[in-house]
Amino acid sequence: MNLNKPFFYGICFASVTWAISLYLFWQLSKSASFDSLTPYSSISTQQEGLHDNSLSHGEYEKANHAKDNVLKKPNHNNYVNSEKLIKELQVVAQKPKGHDQVLTDLGMVKTLGDQKIRDEGHKIHAFNVLVSNKLSFHREIPDTRNNLCKDVVYSKDLPAASIIICFYNEHLPTLLRTIHSILDRTPSEYLEEIILIDDYSDLHDLHSNLTKYINENKEVKRRVTLLKTERREGLIRARMFGARKATGEALIFLDSHIEVNVGWIQPLLARIKENRTNVAIPVIDIINADTFTYTSSPLVRGGFNWGLHFKWENLPTGTLSKAKDFVKPIKSPTMAGGLFAMDRNYFVDLGEYDAGMDIWGGENLEISFRIWMCGGRLDIIPCSRVGHVFRHRRPYGDPDGKDTMLRNSLRVAHVWMDDYKDYFLQQRPDAKGLNYGDVTGRIALRRRLKCYDFDWYIKHVYPELALPSDNEERLKNKWAALEQDKFQPWHSRKRNYIDQYQLKLTNTSLCVQSNKDIKTKGSLLILRSCLRAKNQLWYETDKSELVLGQLLCLQSGQPSPYLYKCHEMGGNQEWKHKGENKTPVYNIAAGTCLGVDKPKIGAVIMMKLCTDPSLNMWDLVR
Ligand SMILES: *[C@@H]1O[C@H](CO)[C@@H](O)[C@H](O)[C@H]1NC(C)=O
Ligand SMILES: *[C@@H]1O[C@H](CO)[C@@H](O)[C@H](O)[C@H]1NC(C)=O
Ligand SMILES: *[C@@H]1O[C@H](CO)[C@@H](O)[C@H](O)[C@H]1NC(C)=O
Repeated sequence: MNLNKPFFYGICFASVTWAISLYLFWQLSKSASFDSLTPYSSISTQQEGLHDNSLSHGEYEKANHAKDNVLKKPNHNNYVNSEKLIKELQVVAQKPKGHDQVLTDLGMVKTLGDQKIRDEGHKIHAFNVLVSNKLSFHREIPDTRNNLCKDVVYSKDLPAASIIICFYNEHLPTLLRTIHSILDRTPSEYLEEIILIDDYSDLHDLHSNLTKYINENKEVKRRVTLLKTERREGLIRARMFGARKATGEALIFLDSHIEVNVGWIQPLLARIKENRTNVAIPVIDIINADTFTYTSSPLVRGGFNWGLHFKWENLPTGTLSKAKDFVKPIKSPTMAGGLFAMDRNYFVDLGEYDAGMDIWGGENLEISFRIWMCGGRLDIIPCSRVGHVFRHRRPYGDPDGKDTMLRNSLRVAHVWMDDYKDYFLQQRPDAKGLNYGDVTGRIALRRRLKCYDFDWYIKHVYPELALPSDNEERLKNKWAALEQDKFQPWHSRKRNYIDQYQLKLTNTSLCVQSNKDIKTKGSLLILRSCLRAKNQLWYETDKSELVLGQLLCLQSGQPSPYLYKCHEMGGNQEWKHKGENKTPVYNIAAGTCLGVDKPKIGAVIMMKLCTDPSLNMWDLVR
């Protein structure tokens, strides 16, 4: 596969000129669009549900809700120095030349066959399979470590790791890229083995295709062991199954749609070597589910709320005040769960996982509480970076439609949280009376390990956590103890408009207009006679959003785009055109262009193949 092959290869002449202009446009706008893509614009919303097995529909709304709360918090402007340092040290990612361009090209839907692959892929995997299919297993990604990290010298004498990757119906090329990124970027002396656990996938041929691939590739075969469970076990028991087969001194659990970055493993292993009770988490960078662009994440830590949902939050004020703070481990009350490293014997001594938990959810808080309360510690390691595809949703349900997250959370609450479990039960009245199974074994474990109680955990590990019983004064102090929202997207929420125009169908006098009132979320778009009216006036932002009347964003959908609240995460709200008349208007996530079936009043705007230029060329009327 040749990644540099222009995406317009083989399509008709008219489109070639278009494509070249579009290419130039992207080249010119690249630096600007990269700046706007800083991780700050996505961290809180996209990573809210990380443990990828847990990303749910509700997360996005929740993140927005959190955003609203944050806005009400007091603003603190001390730590000017730290802000400057963060600017210097935190975002250093350089995309390889042409990176954006290549990825944008790959997403373009050129045939109905492409469209089918993409749509079915979205259904099964909740990310853009079309792009992933075309990307090399060995693609380059930007080295997102800060410069200080690059100078750290690690001991050569580090424990070797068994890497455990569990998957259920994973997209094969994406899984293979995961494996190759590990083989490519891990010094072989630190890689004992990669253990793949197929958790009883039922995707046609997945297991046999993977087996075949492993057998046909010597280097892969030497390093990778593929196992399959005998029935659907869920992430938790599948990981225990894999860990029990492992022989490395260290265990590293990874998700199945990730790419590890340069030098990712040494900082994790060095941390474990310092003390076997240290558990280490890499910084989790963002691989965009629509475009597979790789961007760095800011340094944040793991927390939770009283619904026992994991959340990312800002670091305690002053955590990053000196340059060396940017390479030091950062204490984290919880982990997202998808990716972490731990001494293997310590994992066993500490009680592995709670095997009474089903499928997914809650186990990340359970192991986090257990590590802290029973004598270990949990830190984010800034110099280790692993990119993760943040899917739009969890693509598979719980078998039998059970809410395993709720049931698992109940087990966490009853084993570890002492009286604090009442806060959870108040938050989740629906948990009342739910059968959460037998937890006596886990309570015995807690006693055997002589763990601290939950009150100790709150006071020593997570004093910033707001309690429902806190008064206003205490809440204020807790908020003040965390870095404020200056590093978060809503800090710079002012939209930057760079252009405004009507979208007129070429060779007609018909313009794109909202079907309903421009304030109506979900409104479709239709053709109407061009009129200089608010409901036809599009404002383009520096993030390539199209905002109608400065209110709602144009969002791609199947089969039609519609108006929706601007989420500032690009993808389905990111539109490209060549900036002049007779241009296609291309959506990055959909890989298709704005078009209509017929050039007549009332025709609904659709997402059409860009390669069919008859009714999808637009003039920008400024
Ligand atoms: C397995 O391989 C066959 C032949 O290459 C292909 O048609 C099929 O889609 C593959 N299945 C999966 C799940 O990768
Ligand atoms: C390892 O960490 C634990 C808990 O923080 C501490 O009690 C112990 O002394 C440490 N061991 C070593 C060898 O430093
Ligand atoms: C617009 O009209 C011109 C002149 O008739 C024609 O050459 C061109 O192909 C038309 N463009 C589109 C997109 O229909």
